[in-house]
Amino acid sequence: MNVKGKHYLTIWMKNEKVMMIDQNQLPFRFEIFESKNYAETCLAIKTMIVRGAGAIGAAAGFAMAQAFIQAKENILFAENARKEIETSRPTARNLFYATKRVFDAGCISTEKAIEEAQKIAEEDIASGKMIGIHGNSLIKDNTNILTHCNAGWLGFVDYGSALSPIYTASKEGKNIFVYADETRPRGQGARLTAWELNNENIPHIIIPDNAGAYLASKGKIDTMICGADRIAANGDTANKIGTFEKAIVAKTFGIPFYIAAPLSTFDINCCSGEDIIIEERTEDEILYQTGLDENNELRKILVCSPGSKAYNPAFDVTPASYINGFITEKGIIPANETAIKNILS
Ligand code: MRU
Repeated sequence: MNVKGKHYLTIWMKNEKVMMIDQNQLPFRFEIFESKNYAETCLAIKTMIVRGAGAIGAAAGFAMAQAFIQAKENILFAENARKEIETSRPTARNLFYATKRVFDAGCISTEKAIEEAQKIAEEDIASGKMIGIHGNSLIKDNTNILTHCNAGWLGFVDYGSALSPIYTASKEGKNIFVYADETRPRGQGARLTAWELNNENIPHIIIPDNAGAYLASKGKIDTMICGADRIAANGDTANKIGTFEKAIVAKTFGIPFYIAAPLSTFDINCCSGEDIIIEERTEDEILYQTGLDENNELRKILVCSPGSKAYNPAFDVTPASYINGFITEKGIIPANETAIKNILS
């Protein structure tokens, strides 16, 4: 990750504290949020100071490790903390993967819990790097790529999933152009993906979420790459709301549609997308927007008809039949049950 030329991670543990780039302040302010205990880390996940599948997983692992430090061998305390962490964001598979691993390690010793949480974060970095290497093979010189939400280094500990192949291709000197969906309501594309691409010097433009079909119809998009929050055993994929619409557009116009995700995002206990719990977030994310005012102050303003209610599902499920392949750290596989079972075995 490259922030104004300096290397950072999205999240890391320093003694008993968890340090994370405060994503709610981006792209306007670059601040590191310090969480002193598991409850603060849990709140950071809920309020999206830290967000994105891999980063949520790392945060959940670190939160679980903090809980063991606080528990001082009181297992009931750690069990209750685990329950609290697991209700912070329901759709992200990585969160549950991390709490289980760190909880099991913590039952042996607190040191093991900390080690396991660090290991999860390191694995996330390594898989993001490999996703970049494998995904790069799909990107020719002079390619226009559409991506939705933020599946870059901010969504992981480093490298990212959907953006990692773009970074690798760009480092190899390929000419790439990125269409970044703004991703209403929270604007992860407009605020975070665009900010990352600026830091990486990658040519890009922010587009409204509803511009994809128009651009595709004009032959402006060569491929689409998105991330995932949970992938069911049959390949159905939950990702940021609006991803399914992109996949429909891609299929309509014969554009390859790929999902980039580490194996930690696959959930063989979910048979299909029907089993994936979709998080519903507060209507305030739709009704209000936050940005810089003329005095450079962050302000929250109402942008909808006063008194109207809003409905805010945070994710949708793209059926496997719309997905050309999964870009994983172990290679690119077709979106079907057999290929998923083989790669996970
Ligand atoms: O609600 P968010 O910002 O956590 O949602 C993030 C996404 O949907 C990403 O596309 C996803 O996590 C894939 S990889 C970071």
